[in-house]
Amino acid sequence: MINSNYVPSHVAIIMDGNGRWAEKRFLPRAAGHNAGMKAMKEIVKAASTLGVKHLTVYAFSTENWKRSQEEVGAIFKLLIKYVKSELMELNQNNVKVKVLGDYSAIPEAAKESLEQLLESTKNNTGLQFNIALNYGSRMEIVRAANAINEAISKGIICGPITEDMLSSYLYTGVENGSIPDPELIIRTSGEQRLSNFLLWQCAYTEFFFTDTLWPDFDKDEFERILESFRNRDRRFGGRK
Ligand code: IPE
Ligand code: IPE
Ligand code: MG
Repeated sequence: MINSNYVPSHVAIIMDGNGRWAEKRFLPRAAGHNAGMKAMKEIVKAASTLGVKHLTVYAFSTENWKRSQEEVGAIFKLLIKYVKSELMELNQNNVKVKVLGDYSAIPEAAKESLEQLLESTKNNTGLQFNIALNYGSRMEIVRAANAINEAISKGIICGPITEDMLSSYLYTGVENGSIPDPELIIRTSGEQRLSNFLLWQCAYTEFFFTDTLWPDFDKDEFERILESFRNRDRRFGGRK
């Protein structure tokens, strides 16, 4: 049955195409990331207004360290800028921010900003905005397997390992408030792959691929995708 007002509880976005957006304009890649940050702000606001419970964005992958030092440095500087400019508004909009990934490895100044963001929004009860940062799904699954192994050997939990147990040890698990699996994953810029994003969590996720480069993505396109999501027939392996 199609519910015309249904809003997915968890939307995840692979924000791709910042570099190409900049190259098209003969600008440095950092300018593309800056424009991408503006698009992200707009979508956070839209998700919050529409009543999405969880918005997860892929901001930096475990593989993105392969990029030039200049580009990586620019991305983390932008994170500091983001916190400075958005902290107040995120709190006004009751948005709680969480990080998925090993952010201990990011530059010190960016880490401090991020910790301020997490601490200052932790009691908010509206949209949960999950930033996947130094995130890789395979690393996440291996980390969970090691944590379970340790908990079993210390007698904290008992085997056998179950799906629910493994889920609870992922970044999307208990440590970040048990985030439900995404109902919808959007990837911009025309690429049709997951690039190591939420591999476990997207077993039954609906995928939307758009050619729009991330800095050009806006609220209207977001709403059109949500509308089209409502027309998807999700069967979860069952029969109609
Ligand atoms: C996505 O845009 C942002 C990050 C990966 C940090 P890209 O920088 O990958 O943009 P393209 O794919 O090169 O256009
Ligand atoms: C995925 O985009 C990671 C983020 C959006 C942060 P990439 O641009 O890094 O992915 P590939 O290299 O095209 O697969
Ligand atoms: Mg890319």
